[in-house]
Amino acid sequence: MNLILSIESSCDDSSIALTAIDTYDLIFHQKISQETKHSAFGGVVPELASRLHAESLPLILEKTKPYLNSLKAIAVTSEPGLNVTLLEGVMMAKTLSYALNLPLIGVNHLKGHLYSLFLKQKEIFPLGVLLVSGGHTMLLEAQSFDKISIKTQSLDDSFGESFDKVAKMLSLGYPGGPIVESFAKKGNARFTLPIPLRSKKQFAFSFSGLKNAVRLEIEEEIQRNATLNEVFKEDLCKSFQESAIAHLMQKCKIFFEENARNSKRWKHFGVVGGASANLVLRERILEMCNFYGVELLLAPLEFCADNAAMIGRVAVESYKRKEFSAIDFLQTRPRITMF
Ligand code: KG4
Ligand code: ZN
Repeated sequence: MNLILSIESSCDDSSIALTAIDTYDLIFHQKISQETKHSAFGGVVPELASRLHAESLPLILEKTKPYLNSLKAIAVTSEPGLNVTLLEGVMMAKTLSYALNLPLIGVNHLKGHLYSLFLKQKEIFPLGVLLVSGGHTMLLEAQSFDKISIKTQSLDDSFGESFDKVAKMLSLGYPGGPIVESFAKKGNARFTLPIPLRSKKQFAFSFSGLKNAVRLEIEEEIQRNATLNEVFKEDLCKSFQESAIAHLMQKCKIFFEENARNSKRWKHFGVVGGASANLVLRERILEMCNFYGVELLLAPLEFCADNAAMIGRVAVESYKRKEFSAIDFLQTRPRITMF
């Protein structure tokens, strides 16, 4: 069996995977999440994350030892992400590549998220994509492995980040996405929060104004009652989630309309990134896909958030194209440009 070993350390998940080059089968995958370690700070502390990667990655690597002789390449997330955490994975990958005399493959993290749709299958192109993570909110059009264009992105915070910030303001812990979603499930959308860029025809995302509106509601409540009770939190989470998703849907609609006018350049639409685990978002996107006659592609829930399996899947394509990275050329600085 010919395998690629892939490493992911762009944020707060230490993960390593083994992917079969010929069949895309995921032979091994493990992830050690640091969420609880950062929870007290309401967000990821880069230096702490880096130190935890240095502890966790070797523990996972140890388990891949029986497969050492089957390895054909070493892949690693090279950008974008937190500098100090990316470095941990990149250093490990470079060491393995050098010591085992195997080619090195640097993988763009966002492309990895896109390929989480194709973990155990061939790619489907052309494809429209909504990428919603902690660092990015983007609409993409993918024609092929190396022809992926950004149609629009967020002007400020990302969708996932806005959930994290709302959770922090309500002292709910980190990461905010799943917690805010579970609070929203029990709440009523009784607060009138703005839907960002609603009146504008602007084809872009923005979440900072909505986050600010949430902050004002919290400040008013504290003035009124000196404390925030559970019902208040649930209702505010629900109102926030409704506005945030309505905003996503309004901009997706522009994207779908444009695609329909162009005799459906893409007939498949994927939603990827950590926040694509949001069930309400999944439901709304499915409705939109059904309306426009487009097939929805989703990653399995466990592979929405950061993981090395998606990095390995991209690396299989790079390997087949013989697209390798020079050992001293890997990017470790985040860049906005991609693919
Ligand atoms: O893709 P990911 O694991 O990391 C980045 O590449 O940034 O995404 C993590 C983000 C966090 O901001 C987290 O709060 C958000 O995804 N997230 C969610 C949900 N689950 C995770 N956001 C909204 N609803 C969720 N259920
Ligand atoms: Zn990610």
